[in-house]
Amino acid sequence: MRHFLSLYDFTKEEILEILELGIKIKKEAKVKNYIPYLQKQSLGMLFEKSSTRTRISFEVGIHQLGGQGLFLSSNDLQLGRGEPMKDSARVISRMVDMVMIRTFSQDILDEFAAYSKVPIINGLTDKYHPVQLLADYLTMIENGKDKNPIVAYVGDGNNMTHSWMMLAGKLGFELRIATPKGYEPWSEIINDAKMLSQESGAKIIYTNDPKEAVKGADVVTTDTWVSMGQEDEKEKRVKDFEGFIVDADLMSLEKADAIFLHCLPAYRGYEVSEEVFEEHADTIFDEAENRLHAQKGLMVWLNGKK
Ligand code: CP
Ligand code: NVA
Repeated sequence: MRHFLSLYDFTKEEILEILELGIKIKKEAKVKNYIPYLQKQSLGMLFEKSSTRTRISFEVGIHQLGGQGLFLSSNDLQLGRGEPMKDSARVISRMVDMVMIRTFSQDILDEFAAYSKVPIINGLTDKYHPVQLLADYLTMIENGKDKNPIVAYVGDGNNMTHSWMMLAGKLGFELRIATPKGYEPWSEIINDAKMLSQESGAKIIYTNDPKEAVKGADVVTTDTWVSMGQEDEKEKRVKDFEGFIVDADLMSLEKADAIFLHCLPAYRGYEVSEEVFEEHADTIFDEAENRLHAQKGLMVWLNGKK
């Protein structure tokens, strides 16, 4: 049985296999050919944080695959009243076929997985957001940006940055990360990414200069400066991230046909300007839709490993 907790645990071939399945299922779904690959299967969807895309894409995704999604908010479960995560894991995983979890620390997710009888999918932790990267890379493939791309990430060294580092480290492309001083990715992830890069030939560059990152890039991406759980730091962060907005000036340094990606939700006037966002809106919303298709590929793939 395989869990999907981090891209670190997957080979390049496996990541591409999941995406190939996603592409195939997307083609079928586009002509309303919803093949019940996961007939009668249930997906528990445990949320300790808010969500629009993750919730909808998993719930609709499992339904289109012939199964059923259960939205489980920690506020409404006994978990919210102190039932231990390991007990919740043992109960939930005896009744459903897969569980997707959005929670705070990766340790909580790992604990759940350790006690689970069924595959666990990371739907975002403070450390990683790997399902988002499946959708992002699928969008890169669809836009012809998967052949030795240069990807520039501008902003906070957060769960999205870490996930990009894992993807680049596995697939072997160039990733340039520009963060303000003090907001660099976690050092343990920098070490892991370095190790992966030695194997794959990836080039991961860290800078505090957004221009250096974006110059000649094929893909430019960013994320909120204030992740879920950091709301109290908003004022300080907005000051510290001055100069890190992805705006038309910065984008003028990219390659002429570069694409801009954003995992959403986007905060215009902070990490991205209204102008850049709207100019690239078609790609950004394709990316959001690709959550559905990529995750259907993932769920079917995981089922095959049971
Ligand atoms: N990108 C993403 O995960 O969006 P949600 O927080 O809306 O699920
Ligand atoms: N970094 C953001 C991603 C949201 C999808 C957060 O963790 O809130």
